[in-house]
Amino acid sequence: MRIIIEGYDPVDRQLVRGELAGVDRAQTQAADIVTLQFDAAPADNSASSGGGDGAAAAPPAAPPANVVIKQNPTLLQKARPGDVRVGACVWDGGFILSAILEHRARSGALRLAGARCVELGAGCGLAGLVAARLGASVMLTDQKEVLVHARGNAAKNKALWMPAPPGPAPRGPQQQQAQQQRQQAQDAGPPPPGSAGVMPLDWAAADMAEAAAAVRRAMGGRIDVLIGSDCIYPDPAGCKANAEAFIEACVALCDADTVALITYEVRIPEVREALLGAARARFNLRLLAAEEVPDGWRSERVETFEMRLL
Ligand SMILES: C[S@@+](CC[C@H](N)C(=O)[O-])C[C@H]1O[C@@H](n2cnc3c(N)ncnc32)[C@H](O)[C@@H]1O
Repeated sequence: MRIIIEGYDPVDRQLVRGELAGVDRAQTQAADIVTLQFDAAPADNSASSGGGDGAAAAPPAAPPANVVIKQNPTLLQKARPGDVRVGACVWDGGFILSAILEHRARSGALRLAGARCVELGAGCGLAGLVAARLGASVMLTDQKEVLVHARGNAAKNKALWMPAPPGPAPRGPQQQQAQQQRQQAQDAGPPPPGSAGVMPLDWAAADMAEAAAAVRRAMGGRIDVLIGSDCIYPDPAGCKANAEAFIEACVALCDADTVALITYEVRIPEVREALLGAARARFNLRLLAAEEVPDGWRSERVETFEMRLL
């Protein structure tokens, strides 16, 4: 997996493009467009290559399964701690969670094809869109002011991956109405596998339980995989309260067989203790060992928790 960054350099007044083999925040958070490029089609979507003597020629290699994210570095530069503008760019934990999801899906350790997946604090939605690219039906959630980033990226990637509906585009009012009705019927259920929808869910808000119930309903009452990256960080509103609220939202979305994968960036030890304490009170929690994170994506600062309800 590689990161391709693209953007406008205002000093040299030119478009720049570069390739990174791992996380490098100074570079990724300065880019306007970040593309995660996989080496080949995700395991669940790729055709078998056959084998043995005299086997038919292998099918042509599938095109790279890219996930393309539009970010807003200018907005992020104005962000203060706890500010909604932190969701305007992808954070290191988002790339690392994406690498873990891809690695697990390829190895068969995590089934994402056909799975129902919810992302908390999605920001630009990278990890959730990677899960969608790996075949999951995904709901990206965040505070409602932040959803603009996830919504734009969900639409962009859907247009890139999903085949256009057969037949000519509807022209008359009746055809347009019929298409709208089909779209509404589709919007009422979980997003189709391989795509992502967007819903508000603020874990610190008084209506968190209702918002979580609405997300569960939208997912057909079942969530197989819950993900979140870099959701808890030093917050002026109170780190312990925020960590507890985040974990309560996780509880509200999990069933006994839901697996939650959460990346956390260690910035202040007290915040980490608050998050781990809140999580261990409600979940069986396991910290992933370094070798469970794919080569090139390990970080001294970013940890990954795998959690299942107690
Ligand atoms: C550091 S950013 C990480 C964004 C993204 N997950 C990533 O890794 O690129 C933190 C995200 O958590 C979201 N967030 C913070 N507090 C939240 C809350 N109370 N409810 C929902 N989302 C929240 C922010 O809006 C932001 O998108």
